[in-house]
Amino acid sequence: MRNVSHAGSLAAGRRRLPDQRLWVAALLVLALLAPAAVPVYAVPTADDQAAATALAAPASAFSGEEAFRHVSYLADRVGSRPAGSDKEAEAADYLAAELASFGLQTELQPFTIQTYEERAAVVRPLTPPGPPIETSAFIYSGSGSVAAGLADAGLGRPSDWAPGALEGRVALLERGELTFADKIANVTEAGAVAAIIFNQDERGFTGTLRNASNIPAVSLVRAEGLALREQLGRGPVRMEVTVDASVVTRQSRNVVGRLPGPRPGTIVIGSHFDSVSAGPGANDNGSGTATVVELARIFSQRQYPYTLVFVAFGSEEIGLRGSRHFVDALSDAEREQVKAMINLDMVGVGDEQRLTGATELVDVAREVAEAMGLPRFTATGGGAGASSDHESFQRVGIPVLFIHRTSDPNYHSPRDRSEYVDPAYLALAGQLAAGVLDRLGAEDR
Ligand code: BES
Ligand code: ZN
Repeated sequence: MRNVSHAGSLAAGRRRLPDQRLWVAALLVLALLAPAAVPVYAVPTADDQAAATALAAPASAFSGEEAFRHVSYLADRVGSRPAGSDKEAEAADYLAAELASFGLQTELQPFTIQTYEERAAVVRPLTPPGPPIETSAFIYSGSGSVAAGLADAGLGRPSDWAPGALEGRVALLERGELTFADKIANVTEAGAVAAIIFNQDERGFTGTLRNASNIPAVSLVRAEGLALREQLGRGPVRMEVTVDASVVTRQSRNVVGRLPGPRPGTIVIGSHFDSVSAGPGANDNGSGTATVVELARIFSQRQYPYTLVFVAFGSEEIGLRGSRHFVDALSDAEREQVKAMINLDMVGVGDEQRLTGATELVDVAREVAEAMGLPRFTATGGGAGASSDHESFQRVGIPVLFIHRTSDPNYHSPRDRSEYVDPAYLALAGQLAAGVLDRLGAEDR
C-alpha cells in the first residue's frame, strides 16, 4: 500500500500491536469470567481519562435508528443533491445544524466547481418522421440545434466517406477504434454539423470528450444506430440533433465539525453527501453521511485524546472535488497532524461489509471487530474497484480506512431510496468506526 511508508505514528502503533493482542486476549478471558461486568472493548487503564469516559459512551452507544433519521432527511426530504446544486446547499445547512447541536465547532467550507450541465439532448427523425430517440450528450459536446440530412461516417476515419459526403450533414458513427474526440474532430473537419455515435454492444453509454467539440455530439444505443443505418440504405433521412449544455461555474461546500482534543494529532472521519442527479442518494451516500453524524454525536459525549474532525464532503460525484479541496486547504503542519482518515461510503445496502486502506488500519479494524463481536468483513487489497474521498488523503500519504458494502443493485439510480437502507448496517459500520477510533485513541500513551 502506497501510504505505509508515510504512516509514522501508525507504524509506531503497529510495533505495539503484540502488546495489544495480549490485552485483547486478557480481556476476552475476563469477559468470559464475568460476561456482564466488563465490555470486552474497554481498555483497562482506569487511570486514563479517555478510556474511563469511553466506558460512559461506548462504541455500542452508536444508534442505527438515529443514523437512519439522517438518511431519511437527506434522501426523502432533501432528495437528489447534485454537486453545486441548491439541494446540496440545503443538505449542507442541515448537516451543519446537526453537528453544531452536538457542540462541535462547525463551519461550511465553500469552493467553486466547474461542471458540464446538460439541460437537453434530443435526437429526432424528421424525414421519415419518427418519435424522439433516447440519447444523451457527450460531456463537453458543443451546444446547438441542427436539422440536416444523415450520412454514414463508419468508424470516423476520413477513409470512411467519399470526399464532400459529410458537408452540412449529421454524421452517424459507430463506437470503436478511434476516441470519441478523434471521430468528432474528423467529421467536423469534413463539414459535419452534428455527430451521433452508437455503441458497439447493447448497453447505453455516455462519455467525456478529451477535447470539447464545436458541434453537438450525442450517443445512442446500438439497436437505434443500426436502425438509422438501415433506414439510410433505403433512402434519404433527415434528423434533428439538439444539445443544450455548457460548462457552468457553481459553488459547492464541505461541512466541517471539529472536536478538539488535548493531544497533538487529528483523525478525520468523512463521507460525501452529494449524490448523482439520477436519484436521491440514500445509500450513496446518505448512509455514510448519517453514520458520520451519529459518530459525531457519540464522540461529542466523551473525551478523546486527539482532535476529531468530522467532514461531509460536497461534489464527490464529479471527481472527489470536496475532499481534494479539504486536503489542499490544509497547511503542511496541519497535514502532518492527520494520523488517519476514515471514509464511509455506501454502508447501508448490500451483501457484505468491506474494508480497504492502510494495512495498519485494516488490521486494527479486524481486531476491533473480533473483540466487539462484530461480523467478519472482507479486507480487499488495493482499490475497492470504486473511487471515493479517501483517495484524496491517500494521495498525500495520509493512512486511510475505507468502509463500504458491496453490490447495491440501485447504485446511481432513481431507486437508491431510504427504504432499502438497513439501520442495522449503519450500526455495524458506525460501531466498527467507533471501535477503531477507541483503539487509535488508546494506542499512543
Ligand atoms: N459511492 C461511490 C463509490 C463506491 C462504489 C463506494 C461502490 C462503495 C461501493 C462513489 O460515489 C462513485 O460513484 N464513485 C465513482 C467515481 C467518482 C470519482 C465519480 C466510481 O467509483 O466510479
Ligand atoms: Zn458515493
